[in-house]
Amino acid sequence: MIIKSGLDPFHAQGLPGYPLPSILLSRLAIEKSQQGKGYGPSLLKWVFSKAVEISADDYAPSFRFVHVDAIDQNAKKFYEKYGFKTFIDKPMSLYISLETIKASIG
Ligand SMILES: CC(C)(COP(=O)(O)OP(=O)(O)OC[C@H]1O[C@@H](n2cnc3c(N)ncnc32)[C@H](O)[C@@H]1OP(=O)(O)O)[C@@H](O)C(=O)NCCC(=O)NCCS
Repeated sequence: MIIKSGLDPFHAQGLPGYPLPSILLSRLAIEKSQQGKGYGPSLLKWVFSKAVEISADDYAPSFRFVHVDAIDQNAKKFYEKYGFKTFIDKPMSLYISLETIKASIG
């Protein structure tokens, strides 16, 4: 769940004040020896396409965001590179809207 007050004004506009369903991206990590080979972005791309697929399922809960808790500043920068924004009230947690995801995968 995410709360409107943690989002930037652009993403918060028009949203209700109660907690909103969101998909939590948990433990995305590449084994050390395989880092730097582009697997991270590939995994993220898969997550994005899965989110779009779930959003089209009439039986799945409706959600507008995917969020993640970054383990450190490096991970945070990685997510920012792919369009995630930091929650106003949680400096190590980031979110991305479904609209941004759809735009990024075309
Ligand atoms: C962060 C992580 C997922 C990135 O995956 P990866 O496969 O190693 O990614 P790559 O190094 O191949 O980088 C791919 C792209 O992401 C960018 N990137 C990677 N790490 C970055 C960082 N810390 N800041 C900014 N960009 C970063 C690269 O510049 C590259 O961009 P390019 O294709 O435009 O050159 C991976 O390094 C990892 O598992 N780290 C340890 C665990 C972790 O931090 N997981 C996040 C949990 S919250």
